[in-house]
Amino acid sequence: MSENNEEVTLLLQLESLIGPWEGNILRRYCHLSNASALLWDYFKQINWVGFYLVEEGKERLILGPFQGKVACTDIQFSRGVCGKAARSAQSQLVEDVHLFPGHIACDVASRSELVVPILDARGDVVALIDVDSPLVGRFTKSDQTLLEQVSSLLAKMLWT
Ligand code: SME
Repeated sequence: MSENNEEVTLLLQLESLIGPWEGNILRRYCHLSNASALLWDYFKQINWVGFYLVEEGKERLILGPFQGKVACTDIQFSRGVCGKAARSAQSQLVEDVHLFPGHIACDVASRSELVVPILDARGDVVALIDVDSPLVGRFTKSDQTLLEQVSSLLAKMLWT
């Protein structure tokens, strides 16, 4: 687990908010909604944070719970920062979205972005965490590490 107190608090809060999960899809959405609110409070200088869920067998992402402005509802795996994270199963830390070919501008104010995949126990991408900022270079490697810990926690708690 992370060494930083604020990061540890975030992870513990998330864990206690979710608690035991009984496999109900509605309840998964309920917990992801609270998780988006927690992340929205945690990260400073952001304009969007939320989840995209993989539509099984379709190579397509569907908008999930989020905080921020109205966003794109459907994203193909072939498109944008989210698509790249989904097809590669790798986190994408984009310093300047204007320099990312194919970036999807749901909000023209967004200038940097961090997308972290959530993998189930088989290693398949089941969802993504996406966070956007109006500042260029807002996100750091430690933000990425923290969101990867959030991703592992959510996978363990909501996809097993
Ligand atoms: N910018 C993303 C699309 C999702 S929004 O940022 C909420 C992308 O290029 O995939």
